[in-house]
This record gives sequence, C-alpha cells and structure tokens, in this order.
Amino acid sequence: MREFIESLPKAELHLHIEGTLEPGLMFELASRNGIALRYPSVEALRAAYQFSDLQSFLDIYYEGAGVLQKREDFADMAMAYFRKASSQGLKHAEIFFDPQTHTSRGIKYETVVRGLREAQERAKSELGVTSALILCFLRHLSEDEAMLTLDEALPFRDAIVAVGLDSSERGHPPSKFARVFERARAEGLLAVAHAGEEGPPEYIWEALDILKVRRIDHGVRCIEDPRLVQRLVDEQIPLTVCPLSNVKLRVFDTLRDHNLKRLLDLGVKVTINSDDPAYFGGYIGENYVATADALALTQAEIETIAKNSFDASFV
Ligand code: ADE
Ligand code: ZN
Repeated sequence: MREFIESLPKAELHLHIEGTLEPGLMFELASRNGIALRYPSVEALRAAYQFSDLQSFLDIYYEGAGVLQKREDFADMAMAYFRKASSQGLKHAEIFFDPQTHTSRGIKYETVVRGLREAQERAKSELGVTSALILCFLRHLSEDEAMLTLDEALPFRDAIVAVGLDSSERGHPPSKFARVFERARAEGLLAVAHAGEEGPPEYIWEALDILKVRRIDHGVRCIEDPRLVQRLVDEQIPLTVCPLSNVKLRVFDTLRDHNLKRLLDLGVKVTINSDDPAYFGGYIGENYVATADALALTQAEIETIAKNSFDASFV
C-alpha cells in the first residue's frame, strides 16, 4: 500500500509552510540567527508536541516561527518541505503562509515572499514540483489588521493565487472578514477558509456565502448538518481534510473514528493533506497511508482522493 501511495501523483492543498519547520531546522535557524529557544534540545522540543486542542498547538507553533528571520530561512524551510513531500509523490502544492506571524515581529512581507518564491522556483527546476502561495489572515486578529496585511501584499500581487483564513477558529466566524475578502476578490484573488475544524457548520455556510470560498479547509464538522453536506455534494465544493492533524488536535479520538470515508461515500469531494507535518507526525504520504489503513480504503478510493486533489487545485 505504501509503495502504491507514494508512486501515485498527488497535490497538496492544505499545508502551512510554518508548520513544516522541523525541530532540527528550528534549532539550526535559532543558532544561525542568535535566538535562544525555551527548550534545551530537539528531543525536549519534540516532547512538548502534545496538544489538547487547536489553541494549545497554535501557541507552540507561533513561538517556533520566531526563528525565521531572513529570506534564506524561509527558502530553506520551504525547500526542506518540497524535498520531503516530493519523495512521497507530491507533484503540486498550494501553500499557506501567515504573514502576520512575521510582520508583527518586524520581518518585512517582502522578505517572507522572496524566500518562499525562491524555494518555489528551485522546487520546479530541481524536483518538477509546481506550487502556488495562499496568503492566510490570522482570524484571532482584527479585520482592520487583515486589511493592512492585504495592503502590504498587493504590491506583490502576482506572488499569491488566493487568500485564506486560519488560526483560532472558535469565536472568530468567517463573517468577521467579509470586507477584506471582498476586496481580495475584487483584486482577482481566489478565496479559501478554514471552517468546521473546531467551529460549527454555521461557519462553513458563512465561508461559502459571505467569503465566497472555492474550497473549505478541514470542513469535517459539515457532517452535523445534512443540508450542508447536500450542498457540498451538489456544488462539488472540495474539503481539504487533514487526518493526522485532526487526531493530534483531538477533533477525532483516533483515525478509525475519522469521518473521511463517510464523507467520501456521501459524494463529498474530499482530499487528504498534512496541515502542519512537522508537528503532527506525517507528511502527505504518511497521511494517505495512515488513513487508508485506519479506514480500510480501497485502491480505487485512494485514486479518487488523489484525483480530487488535482481537480480541486487552482491550476
Ligand atoms: N494554523 C496552522 N495550522 C492550523 C490549523 N490546523 N487550524 C487553524 N489554523 C492553523
Ligand atoms: Zn490548517
């Protein structure tokens, strides 16, 4: 099964580049940039990766991103991701980045984007992997702050294909970002949003109707609302599901309890993605293998999911 999955061409549509920062590289960048980490070793850092929910993860994830200072730091991190995922059959990636995590520390938007673009070009020429960037707004911050971030991004408009919405979901509904998404769409950008990971089905409705997203990131809580599931099926709106993430962040108790197979059976266009692989114990290939094992997916079902990933992509 593993060889079959690794040889299957796949696209990844839900991947936070800051979530690919492995502990080893984090220590290397900390030392390169003269930054002290709170943990004495790679092992101690890894041991801290025990999460009770989304927020407990985000706290440690934002802290880790503090070692990223220079253009080459972003390029090195992204290149490490491309190499690893490419070895597991990745052909195309649509990659989230969180500019506010960096600009709030005094790093220029341009520095982040130049580093990521450099890695994208190398991934294409050295590995044959194509990619696009999706600018995510942090939903625990205000819409005005998101608007300022869009202002910073527009001089580099061609660097991104879409805007997205991530960070703490509960209490921060998509409707909070109606104006900034409207402006981004007017600039010709596509839209996606995290919704229905920890938040209720209502947030998925809002993402569709107010933000006018083309895909829902996670979306697994749609299952609580049969009318919503019917809409996702009728309109073939893709869900970018992240199985290992959902178990690590306690959305499901175990992978066997995951609803991906039920959604697939109902006709929802599901895809499999890694979210933050350095924190959740698996890249795209490992997410496919673990999910296929736990839910007893057939080869035909796995092929459907891989095909969905290209159908759902923006290329
Ligand atoms: N940022 C990084 N990973 C995330 C996730 N799974 N949900 C929301 N925001 C995130
Ligand atoms: Zn995510």
